[in-house]
Amino acid sequence: MADNVLNREYDHGRDDARDFYRKWSETYDSEVSSNGYATPKRCAKALSKFVSEFNTPVLDYACSPGLSGEALREEGFTTLNGYDISKEMQALADEKPIYSVLKCFNPDEGPEIATGILHAISAIGVINVGAVPPSSNDLMFDLLAPAGLFAFTFNGHVLANPTFEAKVKQYTVSPRAELLFMEYSNNLPAAGLKSNVDALKKA
Ligand SMILES: C[S@@+](CC[C@H](N)C(=O)[O-])C[C@H]1O[C@@H](n2cnc3c(N)ncnc32)[C@H](O)[C@@H]1O
Repeated sequence: MADNVLNREYDHGRDDARDFYRKWSETYDSEVSSNGYATPKRCAKALSKFVSEFNTPVLDYACSPGLSGEALREEGFTTLNGYDISKEMQALADEKPIYSVLKCFNPDEGPEIATGILHAISAIGVINVGAVPPSSNDLMFDLLAPAGLFAFTFNGHVLANPTFEAKVKQYTVSPRAELLFMEYSNNLPAAGLKSNVDALKKA
């Protein structure tokens, strides 16, 4: 099951995403960790290059059991707010002392967060073919304050689908955002998978 899940495009849509992650919640942490999950550390490092205050609250969008939050903490971020659609994934994060706020939300309604006030958002291993399409970037940009930072990742399946990078380009040419960082490197090295880490600054 591990390789099947890790190697395939997560071909669930928005409707069955909760079911997909409920089933994966028991083994997710150990499967990705045993495959050397490198993307959270890379993304947390990228974000850390551009923040001025490490106590700036970071929205860890789709936090799952908290591997992304652990990486953000290791880079020095002290105030993490984790949001996810899967209560099973989030229950695992709740067992760890990582997040100041943990909230589960309905994907059809979106997270209940005031727009235009966040200074930093991470979306690590989240934006994907199916449930979390390129338009999810619009939500992140609505939540950000001017000059807010958005660090996110695209796995190999996402990079193979040109609509995701096209969306990023739309932001940078409009220009609604400045591209601060982009790096292609290891995601799950033991499974031979790579990812991009990007960081954008809202105009
Ligand atoms: C592959 S996990 C990665 C999460 C974590 N950031 C990490 O690096 O380990 C993807 C997470 O996205 C969440 N998710 C799926 N669809 C979502 C949506 N539409 N909005 C927010 N989160 C979603 C899932 O519940 C799951 O916990």
